[in-house]
Amino acid sequence: MKILITGGTGYIGSHTLVELLNSNYEVVCIDNFSNSKPEVIGKIKEITNKTFTFYEGDVCDKNILERIFNEHTIDAVIHFAGYKAVGESVKNPLMYYRNNLDSTITLLEVMKKYNCKNFVFSSSATVYGSPKNLPIKEDFPLSTTNPYGTTKLMIEGILKDLYISDNSWNIAVLRYFNPIGAHESGLIGEDPNDIPNNLMPYIVKVATKEYEHLNVFGDDYDTPDGTGVRDYIHVVDLAQGHVSAIEHILKEPGIDFYNLGTGNGYSVLDLVNTFKKVNNIDVPYVIAPRRDGDIAACYADPSYAKEKLGWSAHKDINDMCKDAYNFVKRTKGL
Ligand code: NAD
Ligand code: UD1
Repeated sequence: MKILITGGTGYIGSHTLVELLNSNYEVVCIDNFSNSKPEVIGKIKEITNKTFTFYEGDVCDKNILERIFNEHTIDAVIHFAGYKAVGESVKNPLMYYRNNLDSTITLLEVMKKYNCKNFVFSSSATVYGSPKNLPIKEDFPLSTTNPYGTTKLMIEGILKDLYISDNSWNIAVLRYFNPIGAHESGLIGEDPNDIPNNLMPYIVKVATKEYEHLNVFGDDYDTPDGTGVRDYIHVVDLAQGHVSAIEHILKEPGIDFYNLGTGNGYSVLDLVNTFKKVNNIDVPYVIAPRRDGDIAACYADPSYAKEKLGWSAHKDINDMCKDAYNFVKRTKGL
């Protein structure tokens, strides 16, 4: 079985590539390094002791996709490539609509041409907007609050329409909750170049003294300790969810939508305190005003993924905090 991964040198893509190679899939990968580094290719090979074919290029470029499909018989595609920074999408929506929609439509057109109709898509819990109840189930109402989220919801709609037009497509839409952590080898992980927006990369930069303190955005939410609650999921568990999704779509036709989360909600302070404890390091923080657009709490009901894909998360919040720090220590030689 040969799988094409777009955005495969990125954070989630690289971990998924490792899990696919470990499960003996052949892998072809395309990335334009707009948010990742070429070194990741060697790291994946080092972890798995296996090889894969890499194309440097843009998924919006039909020519390179045609070249890939001419040179390989692709059985299924996992589409990670896209931009993901919420704040940037508010400032530059056209860039987000152009890249996220264009890459997906171009890819689907080429897949159709080459009669490859097995597709796994990276969606996000952001499509649930501000959920009225918790935990979140897949049939909850969908809405978005920023252009990034809207691209995900629009693509979900495109995939539904595509399936209605031709039900020989097999599509798994995976709605990720909050992926954190890194591969236990410490060789791959999340390494943002810019000031991180998300909590864990920021905690890591405070722990390594790049930043003086963490700003905790609000301590007056209606949550047990007043800080925001999220469903943090270890990126390796998330990566394994893609292997399960591939196995599923290759044997059962249709389109379906899955929450990939743990089902556990942890607060900002839970994460900070666990990080301090397992890594034996200080993470100074101050309470800051709420961040615009944030919700109080968000966590998944992951039972549908368990029932249909046979997948569930196994790693806990201690593993997530330990592996996130281990990656940065290795990367920075600390
Ligand atoms: P990432 O930025 O680390 O990885 C995306 C990869 O795609 C990068 O390597 C980038 O260089 C590449 N890329 C972007 N546009 C491209 C294009 N046009 N052509 C070729 N390559 C391109 O992001 P990630 O965290 O690994 O996320 C992967 C996917 O999962 C994204 O679609 C993202 O929106 C989605 N997602 C991520 C999260 C999260 O918290 N990380 C949560 C929900 C959904
Ligand atoms: C963010 C995105 C969301 C995306 C998700 C996963 C926003 C508004 N939302 O969600 O669309 O799907 O990432 O990529 O960016 N926090 C702090 N201090 C910080 C950073 C975060 O206190 O410096 C808090 C937040 O207020 C929140 C929690 O930590 O309560 C998690 O934040 P974050 O990691 O940014 O994830 P989300 O807000 O869930």
